Amino acid sequence: MTKSVESAGFEWLHYDYGSALMPSDPPDSFTMWRYRDLLPISDDPVRYPVPIGGTPLLSAPALRESAGTPNLWIKDETRNPSASNKDRATALVIEDGLRRGVGTITTASTGNAAVATAFGAAAAGMRAVIFVSTGCQQEKLALMTQAGAWVFRVPEGYAAAVDLSRAAARTFGWLDRNTGANPFTIEAKKTVAFEVWEQLGRRLPDVMIVPVGDGPTFASLDKGFAELVSCGLTTRRPRLIGVQAERCQPLVRAWLGEPAGPAELDPAATVADGIAVLRPAIGDAVLDAVRGSGGGMVAVSDEAMIGAVATLACRAGVGAEPAGAASLAGLGSALEQDMVDRSDTVVLLVTGREVKAGGPPDLSRVAVVENLDEVERALAGGS
Ligand SMILES: Cc1ncc(COP(=O)(O)O)c(C=O)c1O
Repeated sequence: MTKSVESAGFEWLHYDYGSALMPSDPPDSFTMWRYRDLLPISDDPVRYPVPIGGTPLLSAPALRESAGTPNLWIKDETRNPSASNKDRATALVIEDGLRRGVGTITTASTGNAAVATAFGAAAAGMRAVIFVSTGCQQEKLALMTQAGAWVFRVPEGYAAAVDLSRAAARTFGWLDRNTGANPFTIEAKKTVAFEVWEQLGRRLPDVMIVPVGDGPTFASLDKGFAELVSCGLTTRRPRLIGVQAERCQPLVRAWLGEPAGPAELDPAATVADGIAVLRPAIGDAVLDAVRGSGGGMVAVSDEAMIGAVATLACRAGVGAEPAGAASLAGLGSALEQDMVDRSDTVVLLVTGREVKAGGPPDLSRVAVVENLDEVERALAGGS
């Protein structure tokens, strides 16, 4: 890493770019650490104990046929250990913490980042302290406590959960894995761009379609593709199309330059909880990436996402949750709006899948809190 630059309200890390930073041997079985020369870690051996990344790029022939898009690909991020792309960010933040001897990691989350953090911390022997809104799915809460995490439910909702988690990190010296706050989350997720480029035979797709919540998944792809250009490995970036739920679409409206109606800004009203974010943490960076890549933003209905879950299952053999399948639903809208040509090479990022805990949450590790004193008291009373 050479320098960090502030832009669109976020800190971005930059390197001494050159083609030698990208490995040249053909990728076979691999993990995201393959790209360690473009990650902010030194040459010491990686300590994070679970393989992350290196997820398959599927050609999905039956889906290509039924969708009428012969050059369609699925980047299947559900194959990560906790079933979402959030495992990448978790792994890099924990790797950094292990090297610095930090024993606790915290994050706020709509669900999947929390599950990834709970699982990653368990594997690494770290304590996880998670903040969620009181609306967080019971199944996801159960997964977090099953992995031994502490879970604090915040009645004021997701934005207040983020504030509390960040304040706890500052006050107690914990690792702050909050998406859109820690630049390492972007660095980790950009490895998806490198993988896609390598898996297509060192070629770029024309378009990538990506579900958008807080924005790091989208913005990191753009950064990854831009770094391939900076390394002199390619000359262009793919068009990036962001997908939000019709019932919570702040960035689609911002991109269109139109005010959103109240029915379009209701996170609790959509089945796609992972992308239901009212005030996206790095929304400006998403809009920059949309414009810079020549892409666009589309909103999709819950029915379209539920339909896409079924289509991914029966045409591609891929299990996805509605937020994860939003990319396939978005393909339909993008085709209708001529943002995508049927002959384009299109990669759908399928970001996550439902996971079952097999039991209820361990309520001795769950508390409702409104401030840091309550957090401290709950942790002091537990093991
Ligand atoms: C399944 C799924 N897809 C997409 C996203 C959106 O990612 P980001 O917040 O990086 O925009 C999330 C975030 O939680 C998610 O869980």
